[in-house]
Amino acid sequence: MNPDSRIYVAGHSGLVGSSIIRTLVSNGFTNLITRGSSELDLRRQSDTEFFFKQSRPEYVFLAAAKVGGIAANNTYKAQFIYDNLTIACNVIHASYKSGVKKLLNLGSSCIYPRSAPQPLKEEYLLTGILEPTNEPYAIAKIAAIKLCRYYYEQYGSEFISVMPTNLYGPNDNFDLETCHVLPAILRKFHLFKLAHEGKQDQIQKDAEIFGPIPEDFSTALALHSCKKPGHEIVLWGTGTPCREFLYVDDLAEACLFLMQNHSTSETGEFVNIGTGKDLTISELADIVKNEIAFDAEIKWDTSRPDGTPKKQLDITKIKNLGWQPEIDLKTGIRMYYEWYRKKSAG
Ligand SMILES: NC(=O)c1ccc[n+]([C@@H]2O[C@H](COP(=O)([O-])OP(=O)(O)OC[C@H]3O[C@@H](n4cnc5c(N)ncnc54)[C@H](OP(=O)(O)O)[C@@H]3O)[C@@H](O)[C@H]2O)c1
Repeated sequence: MNPDSRIYVAGHSGLVGSSIIRTLVSNGFTNLITRGSSELDLRRQSDTEFFFKQSRPEYVFLAAAKVGGIAANNTYKAQFIYDNLTIACNVIHASYKSGVKKLLNLGSSCIYPRSAPQPLKEEYLLTGILEPTNEPYAIAKIAAIKLCRYYYEQYGSEFISVMPTNLYGPNDNFDLETCHVLPAILRKFHLFKLAHEGKQDQIQKDAEIFGPIPEDFSTALALHSCKKPGHEIVLWGTGTPCREFLYVDDLAEACLFLMQNHSTSETGEFVNIGTGKDLTISELADIVKNEIAFDAEIKWDTSRPDGTPKKQLDITKIKNLGWQPEIDLKTGIRMYYEWYRKKSAG
């Protein structure tokens, strides 16, 4: 890629897309193409093809997707499979038709079978049954990997896929109805701290910025602010599943690194991107608690699903290609909370 290459970042406003934009800008790329979903709905094939014909991107980062935590995945199953399949089909096919030089497709570690051996190696794809709570999303993501692979095999298209672990960073989704585990824990602790300090106006502002506070949590906050009993922070599941977390700017660096330095023949079907280290959700909650400096009791709501018991990536392949993460979890959570706190304060 040259500094003036035409680069389309699909999904530029999201957690991943916005980080890819920041990384491209800081590396001197100036000719970036972006469209929000209200201007270009990538589920619409003819609109997508028209856009590619008009704007002629040379490089594409495909980070547009319908994304959510376990509750959203488990509730909006039809939307998760339909949106992600159509976005992938339309962007990948339009990229082929308009002669895109290279495309990088963002997948997810949800593609691996629920009971695959750990750590998860790339070769475990399609070797077992998927985790049911995110099967629709995973099937769409597997289809996208295969699209990239088959366009490479049939047409020689330089389309590569990456499978990141759980990500966090600026522009994450903190809506408690749809978000992932780490933003949910961080926001719940922050809101409890505000309630403890009697800062009702800031709780209100936070809700305006990051989405409404569900009724049960609102009640817990109200109890907490008037120091009545029954005010533990309720977190979903047992706290025992193990997860791995990567700061999103590390992922964006890895994507740019692969886009610039490695061809499809070197990356193979796809490449895992993560830290290779995991921890329990309970340990994660303790790190967040320490960072926010708020010593609340945690109550685990075991009626809520845990999801896959363990999801740790084997990152040997990306390391052998010459990349490794730089931001450790505690530093990442510190930067994450800093960003969140500033935004929450308005
Ligand atoms: N978040 C994670 O922990 C994580 C982990 C592993 C992999 N990934 C992968 O990374 C990719 C990006 O995830 P993310 O967390 O950045 O998601 P996100 O924050 O929810 O952002 C999604 C982006 O997709 C765009 N989009 C959604 N539907 C669209 C449509 N119909 N047409 C056009 N644009 C549309 C959104 O645009 P608007 O804002 O304009 O609607 C937004 O920019 C996904 O493929 C996901 O699987 C994410």
